[in-house]
Amino acid sequence: VLGAGTVGSALIGRLIDDRSIGSGSGLDLAVRRIAVKHISKKRPFDLPGLVTDQAEWVVNDPSIDVVVEAIGGVEPAGDLLLAAIEAGKPVITANKELVATRGAEILEASRWSGVPFLYEAAVGGGIPIIRALVESLSSEKITRLVGVLNGTTNYILSAMTAQGTSFRSALEKATELGYAEPDPSDDISGRDTAFKISILARVAMGARVPPWEVATDGISGLTETDIEQASAEDRVWKLIGRAEQTDESVTVSVRPELLDREHPLAAIGGVTNAVMVEGPAIGQLIFSGPGAGGEATATALIGDLVQAMSRPRVRPGARRRPPRILLHR
Ligand code: HSE
Repeated sequence: VLGAGTVGSALIGRLIDDRSIGSGSGLDLAVRRIAVKHISKKRPFDLPGLVTDQAEWVVNDPSIDVVVEAIGGVEPAGDLLLAAIEAGKPVITANKELVATRGAEILEASRWSGVPFLYEAAVGGGIPIIRALVESLSSEKITRLVGVLNGTTNYILSAMTAQGTSFRSALEKATELGYAEPDPSDDISGRDTAFKISILARVAMGARVPPWEVATDGISGLTETDIEQASAEDRVWKLIGRAEQTDESVTVSVRPELLDREHPLAAIGGVTNAVMVEGPAIGQLIFSGPGAGGEATATALIGDLVQAMSRPRVRPGARRRPPRILLHR
């Protein structure tokens, strides 16, 4: 495990407390090494023999079968994941910034070498939205994705709307609960949502819209008066990530939107995230659940761990041939 912040620590705690995780798929998952930046920092687990500040050793250690990255940020996480793939280790990440900015490159390395690279935990916390888009909805031409994709801002807006809490104290509470980014301006500015909608647009629509090309506006321009006025009109403010596909193009944006109370996303409150997916055959689907926090995100990481390690493995370094499709024998 690389990184032992909110998410990494929750994952480590779960794997240590419940050794039966993965056993249903014939796996024996054990934490072998934990790479951290500051080795002397106090952690919620007591595993001194496993902790190191040498992340490179972890990705290159031949006794380690799989790497989970929960460091955050693009570097050194990206190079570490590429090194792990090079060493034949499947990689699992919760890092939306990395997946949004270097995801295509890492996916290419993963496909080339036949080593899984999974990132369910990067979008929507505990909601299995990536797997739903990649697998269950693979035949659907997704025309629209509309999401509440940031737990912190949704928690703040909900607390301001429902309890009249001030922006500042709602943000403090979201930070205390482990929802906010290390620098919460990433949440407030819409940057975090831009990473997530950029990932969803690629996965669902094949669109390469990097986060810096997503028209982004956060919630800092919203005043308490705006929120009160919306309530008086029976409407509610939500920070919305949106991707819309036409025959010609895909448009991706992040901005606060004023929703009528009847809108399917209007009732999504607190840290909950939701993604509305539309396509010609399915009409409309809505996925919702806890969008941030260590435990929910650790559940998504564990799901990916089990999926990656249950797959038939391709020899490390072996270039995969395109599959031959046999229609008749
Ligand atoms: N800070 C993020 C959020 C964490 O509040 O949604 C989960 O990606």
